Order: sequence, then C-alpha cells, then structure tokens
Amino acid sequence: MGRASDLARQPPPSPRRLSPGWIVAGVAASALVLFAAFPQLTSWSGSSLASGAAEHFVHHPGQLDNSSPYGKFPQEGDSFHFLPCTPATLPPALEDSAPERTWAARFDPVPEHWSWGAPQVGENGTAGGDPYAGRGIYLCGYLDVPLDYTNKSDTRIARLAVTKFQVSGLARVGDAADSSAGRKSERTIVIEPGGPGGSGTSYAWRSAQNITERFTDGKFDVLGWDPRGVNASLPAVACFPHDASRDHWSILTSLHHAVSKSPREQLEIADAMNAAIMRACWERQGDLGRFLGTGMVARDLEQIRIALGEDELTGYLVSYGTGIGQTYASMFPDRVGRLILDGTEYVRDHRLRGGFGWTALDNATDAWRDGFLGECVNAGPEHCALAKPKEGKPVTLSDLEKRMDALLRSLATTPVPAYLPSSGPTLVTYSALVDAIYGAMYNARSWPSLAQTLSELEDGNSTLAASILETSAWYYDPETPCSPNPVPPSDAELTNLVICADSYDASGPDDLGWWLSLWGNMTSQNWIAGDSRFYTVLPCRHYTTYWPQPVGVYRGDLNHTLKHPVLLIAETYDPATPLRNGRRLLHEMGDNARLIVHHGYGHSSRDTSSCTESIARAYILNGTLPDSPETNCYADEKPYLYGVKTKAAAAALTETQDPVEAWQEHLRELVFLKPGLSPAMMVWKR
Ligand SMILES: *[C@@H]1O[C@H](CO)[C@@H](O)[C@H](O)[C@H]1NC(C)=O
Ligand SMILES: *[C@@H]1O[C@H](CO)[C@@H](O)[C@H](O)[C@H]1NC(C)=O
Ligand SMILES: *[C@@H]1O[C@H](CO)[C@@H](O)[C@H](O)[C@H]1NC(C)=O
Ligand SMILES: *[C@@H]1O[C@H](CO)[C@@H](O)[C@H](O)[C@H]1NC(C)=O
Ligand SMILES: *[C@@H]1O[C@H](CO)[C@@H](O)[C@H](O)[C@H]1NC(C)=O
Ligand SMILES: *[C@@H]1O[C@H](CO)[C@@H](O)[C@H](O)[C@H]1NC(C)=O
Ligand SMILES: *[C@@H]1O[C@H](CO)[C@@H](O)[C@H](O)[C@H]1NC(C)=O
Ligand SMILES: *[C@@H]1O[C@H](CO)[C@@H](O)[C@H](O)[C@H]1NC(C)=O
Ligand SMILES: *[C@@H]1O[C@H](CO)[C@@H](O)[C@H](O)[C@H]1NC(C)=O
Repeated sequence: MGRASDLARQPPPSPRRLSPGWIVAGVAASALVLFAAFPQLTSWSGSSLASGAAEHFVHHPGQLDNSSPYGKFPQEGDSFHFLPCTPATLPPALEDSAPERTWAARFDPVPEHWSWGAPQVGENGTAGGDPYAGRGIYLCGYLDVPLDYTNKSDTRIARLAVTKFQVSGLARVGDAADSSAGRKSERTIVIEPGGPGGSGTSYAWRSAQNITERFTDGKFDVLGWDPRGVNASLPAVACFPHDASRDHWSILTSLHHAVSKSPREQLEIADAMNAAIMRACWERQGDLGRFLGTGMVARDLEQIRIALGEDELTGYLVSYGTGIGQTYASMFPDRVGRLILDGTEYVRDHRLRGGFGWTALDNATDAWRDGFLGECVNAGPEHCALAKPKEGKPVTLSDLEKRMDALLRSLATTPVPAYLPSSGPTLVTYSALVDAIYGAMYNARSWPSLAQTLSELEDGNSTLAASILETSAWYYDPETPCSPNPVPPSDAELTNLVICADSYDASGPDDLGWWLSLWGNMTSQNWIAGDSRFYTVLPCRHYTTYWPQPVGVYRGDLNHTLKHPVLLIAETYDPATPLRNGRRLLHEMGDNARLIVHHGYGHSSRDTSSCTESIARAYILNGTLPDSPETNCYADEKPYLYGVKTKAAAAALTETQDPVEAWQEHLRELVFLKPGLSPAMMVWKR
C-alpha cells in the first residue's frame, strides 16, 4: 500500500470491491489508535503519520489559521463536532475541562491525512486534477449525553464516539452554494452491529460503504456509534486492568460441561470468579453498572437522531442491535422511520433469568449438520476437505457425522498437543475447538478453513487447529509491544453488565443448583452453543449485589403503534437469533412489522439473497414494504461454492485460500457480531 498521493494516481478499484486501500488516512501503527484491529487500516506505513501522530497534530498557540481547502472543522452548529477522521480523532477525556478546545485542536488540515471513500463508479479519481472529487469521507465526532436520563441532579455524562461516512464527501471552499458536496444526505442510516459490546464506529469503518451501496446505491450517509461503555465511548468499561489476567483466569472458568469431571465443582469455580469480576467492576467503575441497560442505550439512540436533525430514525441494526431497535421503537414509537432489524432477537426473553442464553439455542446444531457437514458433502472434495473420499469410498453425510463425533469425543478425553513457532507448545482442547465451531456457524465463509482444520486434525496433524485456536482464544496478544503505547484493557465485561441489567428483576430461583440444572439443560439441547451462552449469563448471579436498581430498564410491551412499520429479517439457520424469536416478535408487533424469513446460513442476512436485498432497498429508499406479514427469501449461493459461478470470483477465492488467513478474516467479521460470549470466545482481537 502506498501513500495517499500514490493512491490518487492509481486507477479506481472496481465498484463492487471496496478496497480498504482507498482509505488513505485514519491509520497509524500505534495501538492506542482506534481501529487498530484492522490490519488493512494499519499497515500503511512510511508516512508522517506512522508514529507520534497525536502530538504532531496538536495545535500550537502561535500557529496560523489551520483551515483546509475544505474550510475549518468542526463546523459551526454541528452537534457531533465532526472532524475528518485521523488517528488523533478519539473523543476528549471526560476529565478535560475544555473538551471542545481540545477537540478542535485535533483537526488536521491536510486532506491527504483524511480517510476518503472509494471513488464513485465511472469517475477517474483524478477528474479535474482533484483526487477527492466525488468521494465520500469518514467523519469522526462525539456526542455528550446524560449518564442518568432519569435524574436531573446527576450531571455526569457519557461521551459517545461516532463515525459517519458522508457519501457526498466535502465541499471545497468556494464551491458553488448549490453543489451537493459536503451536505448530509436526506436520511442517515444509523448502524449497530450487536454484542452487547459491539463497536458501531468500527463497524462503520468496515461496512459503511458496503451498507450505503447495498441499501441506497450510495445515496444515504451511514453513522455508527459506540454504545455507552463500549470501545472509544467514555467512560469505557474495563474491569481487568490487564487483558492477560482475564485470559489467565478464563482457562479455569470456561471449561465445557462435556469435559468437566465434576460440573458442580466447575460451576463453583466459575461462579467464584464471576463474584470477583463483578466486585472488580464495582471497585473500578463504581455505579456505572447501573446505567448500561438497553433502555439507556435506546435513549442514547434518540439523542443521536435529534443530533442528526432528522424527524425519523433510519437504521440498520443487527443482532443485539435489534434488541436496541425493539426497545427504541417501543419507547419512541413516533420517531420510527425505516428500521431494519436483521438477526432478530426477542427482547422479552432477556428479562428472564438466563434468558439471553437459553433463548438462542434452537438452530446452531442444525447449522452444523445440514450446513457445515451437509453442504460440504454436496460441494464435494474440491471445495471441502472433509469430503475427500475415505479408503476410496465417497463420503456420505451420516459417515461424516460419525467421524466428527468420534473426533470430538476423543478430544474430550485427550487434548492434542501441538507446536507453533509463534507460541511454542500449545494444546488443542475440546472446549476451545467447540467454541471456535460455534463462531464458525455465524459465518459460512469460514467453513472451508474449518473443514480443512478438522480434516487435518482427524489425520493426526494438529498444527492448523492450533493456529486457528491461537488466533481465536485470547485477549492478550503477546506480540503487542508493551511500550510506549500500552493497549487499553478490553471492555469485555460490558457485555455482562448490559445483559444483567436487562434481567436484574427476574424472579424464580437463583441458587447454584438451579444454574447447574440450567447448564445441563442448555448443553444437552445444544452441544455447540450451550456452554458459551451459559457462561455469558452466569455472571448475573452477582450483578444486583453491586447494582441492585439499574436505571431506565424498559419493561413495557412491544406492540405500540409505530409511525412506520419496521422490517425484521430472521434466518433459518441462525446460530444466535433463531427464526422462532423473529416470529414471536412479529406476532407481538402485528401490523407494525414485516418479516423476511431468510433461508440461508450464518448470523444475520450475510448469506446474500437478491430477494432480501431488493425488499430491504425498497424499504430504506422508498419506505415500501411487502403486504404480507412474512416473505420467504432464499440465499443466492451455497457455502463452499460462493463465487465459483464466475471466473473472476473463483480467482479471488484462490487468493484467500490460505486457511489461517481466511480464518482471520472470519474473526474480523465476527468481532462485531459476537462479542461477549464466554471468556474463551470473546477474544478475536488479532
Ligand atoms: C475500538 O475497537 C477497535 C476495533 O475492535 C480497536 O482496534 C480499538 O483499539 C478500540 N478502541 C478503543 C479506544 O478501545
Ligand atoms: C476518464 O478517463 C478516460 C480514459 O483515460 C478519459 O477518456 C475520460 O475523459 C476521463 N473522464 C474524466 C471525467 O476525466
Ligand atoms: C440523583 O443524583 C444525585 C446527584 O448525583 C444523587 O445524590 C442522588 O442520589 C441521585 N438520585 C438517585 C435516585 O439516583
Ligand atoms: C457487501 O458485502 C457483502 C458481504 O461481504 C457482499 O456480498 C455484497 O456484495 C457487498 N455489497 C456491496 C454493494 O458492496
Ligand atoms: C430451528 O429450531 C426449531 C426449534 O427447535 C426447529 O423447529 C426448526 O426446524 C429448526 N430449523 C432448522 C432449519 O433446522
Ligand atoms: C501439518 O499441517 C501443517 C499446516 O497445515 C502443514 O504445514 C504441515 O506440513 C503438516 N505436517 C505434516 C507432517 O503433514
Ligand atoms: C432442566 O430440564 C428439566 C427437565 O425438563 C426441568 O425439570 C428443569 O426445570 C430444567 N432446569 C432449568 C433450570 O430450567
Ligand atoms: C399490547 O399488548 C397488551 C397485552 O400484552 C395489550 O393489553 C395491549 O392492549 C396491546 N396494545 C396494543 C396497542 O395493541
Ligand atoms: C423507489 O420508487 C421509485 C419511484 O416510485 C422507483 O422508480 C424505484 O424503482 C423505487 N426503488 C426501489 C429500490 O424500490
């Protein structure tokens, strides 16, 4: 990858592949910088931005007017204080007594340092000698909201980080007043990837250009925000001062039911550690844990709508984002514009003890059997390593199921030793492998790598399995330099605090015996998802010890009459948000919703269906919806065979066929969708 000026001379990438190479700024090698998890955003080096970037941009008192060819930022009256994003545009600290001044000093007037979108289709990129003409821009900002909306005498705030992709780019000083450049679009699609704990700003960096193309042909802006407690928003939840300590304990506390010699003893250990973690959250964050429930997040979303100056909220909310969306719609029914809830939860279940866990279990094993194994057999040995003939005989689904069963059983008794040059001695364990399998059910593009991994493991070679688990299993990356920029600790416990606030007043038994029974039930219902989901809800046993009365939790019905119906999308093989829940929500919402039953694999509608796409576009662009409550849509392609229809796509496939590479790409996708499961699963940092 080259410098901005080199990029500007390159031909534009094809419109379908949004090459991150065009994101020319917003990059730095420093781990303190936002979005460091995106190698494609951070690998740009050899420029003045590479290090010490933050100091470089500080406004010096004697410095002259730091305006750019696009004028000065933040612009007057902008509620989000937007600046073109650079590595320095992280929200100012809460302790800062003059945050607006600090922020304004973070404005870097050099357009080559900013993050521009891909050139528009059909343009040359250098038209009129202006490398940025017709290109969208990433704008970074923040919005201050009350920490406690319900208590006027509490003056504390939360500072929400936002990133907006503005499709019209920026207006140059002196552009005609009627030029469309630099204007916000008529509607802004607000996005949230899920979790709880998913970062909307990171999601915007990864997906905003795709989302505006997908739903609006590039007409509407896209804005992502980090929910309170998450990522760059302040205060950030961090209950462990160092990620290495979380990893250290998680080995002891995330053992699966199938491999614990005494589930009761295992539960005692996990529960004791959860008690310690909740206390640490209290010691380090005080009463913050009271203000993190989904009802508060929905109020923040309303503040974002107001700051956008739009009468109605337009949004694409995914996974737990659909929980925020349902809550928002119920609390602000007159503000609902065009909301897509994709990968639909049913938030009523989250009010019940352990509900966030047990409501998710329907279909992960169906996805394994019909999808991962069944589609493997259908695709054949050319596309799926597990379909290679055994002893000269073609593989059948029932043989393959038996083989995998035997492999996992053997692993449950005997972990497999492995060696990796990067980490030395290591083990392939049942718990870690099953957690990785669960993650793979979210995203069928990971299946060829997983199939190859299991095939090699079955043949007695554990190297690939170890590499994959090593990248999926830990928060702390021993290869990260310790200084001068230590990585801030992760916000992993935010997930538990949100889930526990939402179910704080659940009735019924709460003793360890009850939880033991729940664990047994969940894991016997679903060997893939049961443990991970169980460990996500178990900490709630200790939430009310510290925060007996969370604030602003929504307990009303979900059947309010909305200004405009919402569009629900639920997937037949979704491992996290089963179709059953989308249907129950539709049933409660009645005429205020329509449901697309999306027949495909993975979590949310990532298994692309042109039918789903066209309904979603008509809705977001025009507000039109199908008449019938439910519409069936089918995925266009099959797993293992994505893109093999066209030559160009087949070539692209070979490029990414290194299984470890492909797995890492999968984890980069997963980090948005599936934060906050059991400790051993929350660790897709690299
Ligand atoms: C925000 O999330 C990104 C992507 O996961 C990560 O690289 C970055 O370090 C996070 N920033 C903060 C301030 O937590
Ligand atoms: C774009 O490039 C093509 C071929 O180089 C040239 O013919 C055309 O005039 C250019 N268009 C603009 C708007 O500069
Ligand atoms: C409201 O805020 C004030 C000031 O922080 C505090 O003293 C009071 O206890 C709060 N009331 C409630 C009900 O939380
Ligand atoms: C958006 O991304 C999805 C999944 O990667 C891809 O299938 C789709 O073609 C992309 N859409 C656009 C408009 O780029
Ligand atoms: C998903 O789970 C439900 C409930 O167990 C079941 O009725 C349905 O058939 C499953 N879906 C698929 C595609 O297997
Ligand atoms: C084991 O697998 C690794 C990774 O797939 C491969 O590089 C290595 O050659 C294999 N070793 C043997 C002995 O086949
Ligand atoms: C577990 O399942 C058994 C049998 O269906 C049931 O009696 C018990 O109440 C369940 N336990 C929990 C905690 O749901
Ligand atoms: C919503 O459902 C409740 C019962 O759950 C019912 O009492 C109420 O009348 C319904 N409201 C509307 C607007 O349909
Ligand atoms: C939106 O409405 C316009 C005018 O009715 C129509 O031409 C266009 O095809 C519609 N777009 C979609 C995506 O339905």
